[in-house]
Amino acid sequence: MSNASNKPFFITTPVYYVNGKPHIGHAYTTIAADVVARFQKGSGREIFFSVGTDEHGAKIAAKAKESEKDPQVFVDEISEEFKKLWGKLHIQYSSFIRTTNPKHIAAVQKVLQTLSDTGAIYKGFYEGLYCVGCEQFKTADDLVDGKCPDHNSVPELMKEESYLMKMTELQPELTKKIKNDELAVRPERYKKEILSFLEGEKLEDISISRKNVSWGIPLPFDKTHTTYVWVDAFLNYLTVFGWDGDEKNVPKEWPADVQFIGKDILRVHATIWPVILMHLGIPVQKTLFTHGHILSGGKKMSKTLGNVIAIDDLLERFGVDGTRYLLLSAGPFGEDVDVTVERLTEKYNADLANGLGNLVSRVVKLASNLQSTTYRQQQGGEEYPEDLKKLLSGYKLSEALQYIWKKVAEANRYIDETKPWELVTTNQAEFETVMQKLLGDIAFIASWIEPFMPETAEKIKQALQERKTVPLFERI
Ligand code: MSP
Repeated sequence: MSNASNKPFFITTPVYYVNGKPHIGHAYTTIAADVVARFQKGSGREIFFSVGTDEHGAKIAAKAKESEKDPQVFVDEISEEFKKLWGKLHIQYSSFIRTTNPKHIAAVQKVLQTLSDTGAIYKGFYEGLYCVGCEQFKTADDLVDGKCPDHNSVPELMKEESYLMKMTELQPELTKKIKNDELAVRPERYKKEILSFLEGEKLEDISISRKNVSWGIPLPFDKTHTTYVWVDAFLNYLTVFGWDGDEKNVPKEWPADVQFIGKDILRVHATIWPVILMHLGIPVQKTLFTHGHILSGGKKMSKTLGNVIAIDDLLERFGVDGTRYLLLSAGPFGEDVDVTVERLTEKYNADLANGLGNLVSRVVKLASNLQSTTYRQQQGGEEYPEDLKKLLSGYKLSEALQYIWKKVAEANRYIDETKPWELVTTNQAEFETVMQKLLGDIAFIASWIEPFMPETAEKIKQALQERKTVPLFERI
């Protein structure tokens, strides 16, 4: 893969709110980003993969109060939970940014000062319906029966003196950038959705400050206001490099090659974020890749419905690589995917225990009958076939897994057909040929699955080297 500027491939996840412990949805985005980062790295590209936590705002302040904790103590604890989970899931991030980091805070203030100096931010008055769950203003069209459909709650009417950021004047330029893919919104369906929103509605200047939310970053030019949490949060994508907020000093990794987000935060990422960048004269992100939500039994997970699937339970049942595989193979990345523990278990048994696990254990066991001189580890397993490369570069993650699992099935079928356990006594030469092919196939499969299942890939490579069988996945 060549890149003229030799810029590292920069991939981001959202910074997650620390109002509660990390859940399966956070894990989903982060595992997907980890797979892409590992794939790019494995293809020889330098990468930067950022993750982090979004720690200010009304929603978090309320949660801290509920648990009778000082907000900073509260966010420290929950942010740590995210770090722990990423450790458990073998997420190889480059840097973890927290929005309560003093350097981040200073950079946000510098940006706000610049925006105020250039007139992009002005003092005014704002009136709108605010959903604290979303930390977003809602239009009448967003509501169902007067309620925010994501949080099933009536938004509050906010009416207050506020600083506003100019959006309207940049709307035509923003629309153009999205239309011509300077800011590529993907999958295509989401590009259409955002364009039809932009073409159908006038972007109102947005309120970027709060008078009554003390858990936030004070505006440098008016300390009676704190920054709207989204403006604070977006800048993480630059402050993750220790950026000081000076637009002439943008990190060399920027613009992000791809930002992974869930569909719930597409609109803000495709409007407010690029507009901030445009006001600052900084290039916009290259790709905004939007994925769907994980549903449980066809419904949004909720405590009331009792259908929450806990990430820790998945880890306990399926292990790290099992969990990574099952989440990413559950459906196309980009669309809503519906999971149930029963279906995940079936897939675990079929694809991992019977499919890959059985293949590796059969081949390695049979290989113990090989003349040691002809038992050689296949080389060149690092190369990705073009088709697989294309799928991975296009973030078609479940399709990439299907591609690999087709090879797993083919190899299993090849064993059934060639019956090497018979050849070993009837035709040693043929046995050697069949085994060479199978060992080669497994070496390839091991390197192709590395981004998805790093531990399993390593185990397979070791089994091949040491000629020791390993039960990779036990049937449940
Ligand atoms: N803090 C903001 C993001 C700021 S980024 C500058 C935020 N945080 S969040 O904790 O609510 O995380 C939202 C993200 O979590 C979604 O965009 C998605 O990446 C992930 N998911 C949350 N629930 C999800 C599912 N049920 N399914 C899949 N992913 C979802 O919004």
